[in-house]
Amino acid sequence: MKKAQPSSFNHQYKKKGDNLTPFETYSKHSNALDVSIKQLRDILLGIKGNSLEILDVGCSDGLFLISSLPKEKNMRITFLEPSKDPFEKLKKNTKQNKEWVCINQTFEEFYQNNKEKYDIVLASHLYHFPREEYQELLSQLTSLLKDSGILIWIERGVDEITDFKKRFKTMLLPSKYPKNWIPRNYKRVLEILKRKEGNTKLIQNNSVLKFPYTQELDDVIAIVEFFLNIEWNSIPRTVQEEILEYIIEKKGILQEEEGIVVYSKHRD
Ligand SMILES: C[S@@+](CC[C@H](N)C(=O)[O-])C[C@H]1O[C@@H](n2cnc3c(N)ncnc32)[C@H](O)[C@@H]1O
Repeated sequence: MKKAQPSSFNHQYKKKGDNLTPFETYSKHSNALDVSIKQLRDILLGIKGNSLEILDVGCSDGLFLISSLPKEKNMRITFLEPSKDPFEKLKKNTKQNKEWVCINQTFEEFYQNNKEKYDIVLASHLYHFPREEYQELLSQLTSLLKDSGILIWIERGVDEITDFKKRFKTMLLPSKYPKNWIPRNYKRVLEILKRKEGNTKLIQNNSVLKFPYTQELDDVIAIVEFFLNIEWNSIPRTVQEEILEYIIEKKGILQEEEGIVVYSKHRD
């Protein structure tokens, strides 16, 4: 396959033979997921009780939570995922455990009919919910907790990826992303939960994204598209070059931050 070059026009991002999604390509070059999984495992391990009921909202294929489970605990999990493809993968990934239930619904649908309460509600990397609806979403999520229950919310922080997104999205799509636009991050949720009765704490995860700019330009472009959500070919050549210069100036390394907001319904 023809490799994209930093100095030529019309860099192409094509799916490679390995057919990775843009997120999977990003994950190949960042340790964010490993850091997140380890941190979540430590949090779960620290929660009182050996048999816990968890609701995983928007779990995708379920592997994020499954990889984070501490061996020491028995977790009865309700996995909630509305999209068809990840749900099919979820069913395969969970079939070995009879205590795990998979539900193919949106959170909104599930919430209307659900009567259960949970020890833990996990809401991780839920980028589909509009920020304006966070207040209501968080009230609904916390209403599903048992009296001793814990909500775990995981979201990106303010880091060098934020700077990258802000710089180029506001440049490329100013009507959608005005100069004062701030990319999504955990601070809004932290603020809302801190106002609620109970105990809220923040755990920060630090990781590193290494753009493989000297060997795999296709991957660089896939990651740029993933972060900007803009097709590479639609980006003017001068901005394409600016993006690549930005990455080269940073020697391909961007520091990442993520927040895990842990809310306990009752103060200890
Ligand atoms: C970025 S993935 C996060 C997956 C997993 N929680 C993780 O942290 O790796 C977000 C998931 O939320 C699901 N989703 C989208 N809208 C939803 C809704 N209204 N209710 C529940 N899940 C939703 C998507 O289908 C997607 O699988």
